[in-house]
Amino acid sequence: MRAGHPWIYRSDVSGVEAAPGDVVQVLGVKERPLGRALFSDQSQITLRMLTRDERAVDDRFWLARLRQALDYRASLQLDATACRLVHGEADLLPSLIVDRYGDVLVVQALSQGMDRLLPTLVPMLVTLTGATGVLARNDPKVRTLEGLPQEVRLLHGEVPALVPAREGPVHCEVDPWHGQKTGLFLDQRENREAAARYASGRVLDCFSYNGGFALRLASVAREVIALDSSADAVVRIARNAALNSLPHVTAREANVFDELRHLERLGDRFDCIVLDPPAFAKNKAAVTRAMAGYKEINLRALRLLNTGGFLVTCSCSYNVDEALFGQALYEASVDSHRAVTVVEKRMQGRDHPVLLGVPETYYLKCVILRTLD
Ligand SMILES: C[S@@+](CC[C@H](N)C(=O)[O-])C[C@H]1O[C@@H](n2cnc3c(N)ncnc32)[C@H](O)[C@@H]1O
Repeated sequence: MRAGHPWIYRSDVSGVEAAPGDVVQVLGVKERPLGRALFSDQSQITLRMLTRDERAVDDRFWLARLRQALDYRASLQLDATACRLVHGEADLLPSLIVDRYGDVLVVQALSQGMDRLLPTLVPMLVTLTGATGVLARNDPKVRTLEGLPQEVRLLHGEVPALVPAREGPVHCEVDPWHGQKTGLFLDQRENREAAARYASGRVLDCFSYNGGFALRLASVAREVIALDSSADAVVRIARNAALNSLPHVTAREANVFDELRHLERLGDRFDCIVLDPPAFAKNKAAVTRAMAGYKEINLRALRLLNTGGFLVTCSCSYNVDEALFGQALYEASVDSHRAVTVVEKRMQGRDHPVLLGVPETYYLKCVILRTLD
């Protein structure tokens, strides 16, 4: 706590007088007040600190916290109609996610406390943003650790099946009801822009989802091939490519692990490859296997690059930190027998800030590499 981390685990709590989801006063040794927190009677994370003093946690408090988060996003002057407005702990609103897609907000309440607070926070969000619809995408599995149901529920106004959104020059359709995460991988927006500064010629976008990288890179590439194992994602890429009049983007349903090997056998070559896999290490026990996975796809991708080609490679596994990911990339470069330089080391976009002292808020690594021979 002294180092700024807001979580207090069950094993560190000696007594409780509270109901599930209450905002509670936290007392330390000798009953010394430590601040106020959200209480959970189910999760190992029993307390999520809201304050480190005795100020009241009332409507004024919540409005100020939400306004602070929204003012920060407004100050970024993002060239997009979709972005993250609230990034949980890093906005001092622990376990609350709010994403904006045009006039629609998608929220996730990932603790008992935030779940109970939604009726208070949603009207405030509507007033602050002018949103015409608010959807709760409360289906992440972590909710079960809080004893909360996994559900998708309309909380305000109307939320259409498909919502139009724009990121820079790219227009797309977002399915907030069923799409992965809250609809898009908003955390990669700035990395897509960065990749567009290097990409050219033939581009391979692996783990493409709705074509976030593929569509952005199409403006600088001759040909873009997008791969994803989800049939729905592949249909959406094709629709988004048509929406943006990008006939040189093609999407294929494929397992990237198999397809990279297949392309290598065919002797295919690319000028830019994007690797944006799902989190391979969902927990600490999965790290060794995840490292093997990262090494494998990066090795294969490096072999498929032309000389002077760029590899935009990502890991969203919190459990594989920057150093470990760097190690997997280094090992891949050694085994690929190629000289590889690091062009940029990047992270999640600025609308997904990292709170110092809370490593859980830093999860996305994006490294841009270049082959020299
Ligand atoms: C992190 S998301 C990619 C986000 C995307 N790059 C973007 O910018 O929006 C990971 C994607 O990988 C896909 N996926 C998971 N395992 C896969 C595999 N073995 N082969 C191909 N795609 C896979 C998922 O369907 C998901 O769309």
